[in-house]
Amino acid sequence: MTPETLIRGRLLSFRRAPQHAGDSESYLYEEDGALLVRNGKIAAVGVYADVKAKAGAEAEEVDHRPHLILPGLIDCHVHFPQMQVIASYAANLLEWLDTYTFPEECRFVETAHAERIATQFFDEFLRQGTTTAVAYCSVHKASADAFFAESLRRGTLMIGGKVMMDRNAPQGLLDTPQLGYDETRAVIEQWHGKGRNHVAITPRFAITSTPEQMAMTQKLAEEFPDLHIQTHLSENHDEIRYTCELYPDATDYTDIYARYGLLRKKALFGHAIHLSEREADAMAESGAVAVHCPTSNLFLGSGLFPLKAIQRREKPVTVAVATDIGGGSSYSMFKTMDEAYKIQQLLGERLNPLESFYHMTLGNAVALDLADRIGTLDEGSDADIVVMNAAATPAMRLRMETVTSLSEELFLLQTLGDDRSVVETYVAGKASKPQFGL
Ligand code: GUN
Ligand code: ZN
Repeated sequence: MTPETLIRGRLLSFRRAPQHAGDSESYLYEEDGALLVRNGKIAAVGVYADVKAKAGAEAEEVDHRPHLILPGLIDCHVHFPQMQVIASYAANLLEWLDTYTFPEECRFVETAHAERIATQFFDEFLRQGTTTAVAYCSVHKASADAFFAESLRRGTLMIGGKVMMDRNAPQGLLDTPQLGYDETRAVIEQWHGKGRNHVAITPRFAITSTPEQMAMTQKLAEEFPDLHIQTHLSENHDEIRYTCELYPDATDYTDIYARYGLLRKKALFGHAIHLSEREADAMAESGAVAVHCPTSNLFLGSGLFPLKAIQRREKPVTVAVATDIGGGSSYSMFKTMDEAYKIQQLLGERLNPLESFYHMTLGNAVALDLADRIGTLDEGSDADIVVMNAAATPAMRLRMETVTSLSEELFLLQTLGDDRSVVETYVAGKASKPQFGL
């Protein structure tokens, strides 16, 4: 008999993007629900009694009532080598990169260091209920090896890439157009499709890549048309100015990436805060994704991303959400959406709790073109699951006394919740055990 697990609790899973704050058609909510997990996948979902009837007599039963069961959270932009950069005091992006970030990433030339941080990274993300992350490794191939090896051990669906950068950074962080190409190919051959790992083509941003390196990323993008691509775009005004000086023939920042064939579906552009209408049109037409990193944008003073406005355009841009560790100031997707909410408040917009929870689950899965695997509790999905307690702290418990609807509970979780609210994280059906590596 294949071992089965029956996970009981209140289920919440989105079917599509919510159209308004009370859009109850956009999600499945089951007050006394259950998931049947078999071979790492969700074999059945629904009312507890119905799902139990489908389970074998040997099925192990876990009762999470009254907690809320969600699909594992997804973080679409993080930097794995920046765990010891978070909370660094800098005036702006370029100062932060030069003063803290580049020196720190140089340490990843040491394989032992990369392996130690990889253990910490997976412990921390799973503790926060995040089961999929899209990660930049460092320029060193060994950092990607450490990241994917740890992911394979944990059984997680992770997307990652060896960063390509060949100028405007310390010597210890530079590859060359040929080396960046060769090592990216080697990482793809070694890790893409191994376990649940996905490799992303990862030129850091136009400032740190010569035109020759950008041409090599284009070659990779053409040779691997199904792979994700990740880079940074239009985060900070000084960055934008310098980038456009480096590529004087391009119409604007977005056009640089378009010229090298990088504007396409499954291409993830971190930040994309200060886009012109032309750039937003180009993003929308290509199917590329703008990745909103609210805690980072506030922490580095980069700007207020027009999340609602950019999705409401005649040509809407697909948006994903992310922590951007270590520019971001929290590992929690709840804190991330709390800050996203506040940014919209400042812009005179409303981000309702359904939208927030959609973004960190199905919305991000759709942006990654992985909604058939992750981001929902649908039958057939991978069993990446998080169990949340909206009364995890005294302050939350007190506020929960007055909560009367699911939306209010979600908003409370988003506003006051963090890792303390995460009761359990399941990766492919298995409760994840932190390794607490030192
Ligand atoms: N732009 C280029 N590299 C980085 C990075 O590491 N973090 C952020 N926030 N922006 C970048
Ligand atoms: Zn970033």
